[in-house]
Amino acid sequence: GGHGGSSSSGLKFTPVAPNKLDAITVPPGYDHSVVVRWGDPVVPGAPAFDFDNQTAAAQAKQFGYNCDYVTLFPMGKDRGLLWVNHEYTDEVLMFRGYVDGNAAPLEQIKIALAAHGGSVVEIARAGKSGKWALVTHGSRRYNRRLTAQTPMRFSGPAAGSALLKTAADPTGRFPKGMLNNCAGGTTPWGTVLTAEENFNQYFVGGNGVPEDQKANLVRYGISTTVAIPSGNRRFDRVEERFDLAKHPHEINRFGWIVEIDPFDPDSTPIKRTALGRMAHEAATTTLAKDGRLVAYMGDDSRFEYFFKFVSKDRYIPGFDRHNRDLLDEGTLYVAKLTGDSPAAEIDGTGKLPGDGEFDGAGEWIPLVSGKRSFVTGMTAEEVLVFTRTAADKVGATKMDRPEDMERNPVNGAVYLALTNNTNRTAAQLDEANPRPSNRHGHILEIVESRNDAGANRFAWSLPLVCGDPTDPSTYFAGFDKTKVSPISCPDNLAFDRDGNLWISTDGNALGNADGLFVMPVSGRERGYVRQFLTVPFGAETCGPMVTDDQRSVFVAVQHPGEITGATPDNPASTWPDGAQPRPSVAVAWHKQGKKIGS
Ligand code: FEO
Ligand code: CA
Ligand code: CA
Ligand code: CA
Repeated sequence: GGHGGSSSSGLKFTPVAPNKLDAITVPPGYDHSVVVRWGDPVVPGAPAFDFDNQTAAAQAKQFGYNCDYVTLFPMGKDRGLLWVNHEYTDEVLMFRGYVDGNAAPLEQIKIALAAHGGSVVEIARAGKSGKWALVTHGSRRYNRRLTAQTPMRFSGPAAGSALLKTAADPTGRFPKGMLNNCAGGTTPWGTVLTAEENFNQYFVGGNGVPEDQKANLVRYGISTTVAIPSGNRRFDRVEERFDLAKHPHEINRFGWIVEIDPFDPDSTPIKRTALGRMAHEAATTTLAKDGRLVAYMGDDSRFEYFFKFVSKDRYIPGFDRHNRDLLDEGTLYVAKLTGDSPAAEIDGTGKLPGDGEFDGAGEWIPLVSGKRSFVTGMTAEEVLVFTRTAADKVGATKMDRPEDMERNPVNGAVYLALTNNTNRTAAQLDEANPRPSNRHGHILEIVESRNDAGANRFAWSLPLVCGDPTDPSTYFAGFDKTKVSPISCPDNLAFDRDGNLWISTDGNALGNADGLFVMPVSGRERGYVRQFLTVPFGAETCGPMVTDDQRSVFVAVQHPGEITGATPDNPASTWPDGAQPRPSVAVAWHKQGKKIGS
């Protein structure tokens, strides 16, 4: 799949060289700027950022920390609403003299709660260039901050379930706040889907939950033997709900896909239970051939699975009232992959199997549809709340950290970033995860049967096995390895309108800064990976997003200066202001207004 043809990618830029600079670097002929930084005023009336005099009240109105998913809702050609996730806080870099959550002043904990969540900010493009900037005057009536404390609601089959009920919400329908929002997606009706990922890190008291609930906690990465895990932020010191010993169900109210309408700042965010609960990385929507809505989703942990949701009803363009319920009724599937080469040929050396490709077939195994469970021994509500356990039971394929998924707008193939998995042993190899101690990750390509996103079966292959191209265990779809850029730990994916795959990285295990890369997935240049941008050393690259007119590419620079031992008094980065590092969204463009990648 995805092969053939001789169409040119249109990519002609000179790749940037790997580096460890405390800067964004872009190819010759390009420029870049910062769009919005941690602490910038979002809601009118918000105070200016003041690193040494932070307050929770200010943070709740300012741009949050550690920007991740980025998407743009256009309002005309040169204006739009930028949605940005704020995944997590790094208190060691945010506060001088920070020791840990046990010793932190309560105001710092409240600041951290307010620095999570997401932001809607109005931005505008300056003149003919591809440069975008924050709108700082005028009504900015859509600007909004969402935090770990914003009132939300559940919808779908598990809303109101006993598993979601707490003392504060005996209805099980009104969760408070969202946490660890990582990647995301958009819907055809103009809302954002934001994915709650590693929510396990925010809770204490796992040792004190009733015995019959411990297995579920363990499956979601929570210790049931330790009262206060090391490094815990101690949110429970401010809000008792984060203590599982007192409120064991509160954690079940996190780990969902949350839908938010950026054009209605008064709307209540909706946690869509039909899409299951896991360390959600993203939710990328597309339409099946018959018009049903499909959402592809990864569960980003080692040896976890990837999923898709297919709505029961069809998307009807323009019928907003109908479309807005599509994510509440449908079937949740998990992927099972098989290789087409003998297991003995997957020997971990990177040598391709005899048929010349890591490839095979896959099936989507149904887990739950509305109130109907397909998993023996689990109710529908249990499948939705403990989706990992359900996927275990049906024998889904354990992958090397499934991150972002994206569908190619040109040929319909679907791509999944598998960021790494250093825990995979030689005995655990399969053709879809063929490398032991996988430090650099790989990319999975899926072609659904009949190219229909609603299909139950698919073909798959690995067009990219990452690393230094001189490493024999790497594979660049057969492209000349002397020409490609080294790439490690693919995380977020995006397509441009020409069908080129943009890949941002997190945790470059080759020792250089993370960055943004582009790879054609069809034609003669399939596998020709080129690095377009680097971010300050210590940061990961999130986003990315190429605007529809291809004149601008956005990236989120997450955790600049996050290097062991760095503190505000000994910063490892001074990006972007020459002072304390600030996670920020940046934009790059061609100085002559050419298409990104030219
Ligand atoms: Fe938050 Fe899977 O990256
Ligand atoms: Ca094969
Ligand atoms: Ca990510
Ligand atoms: Ca990541």
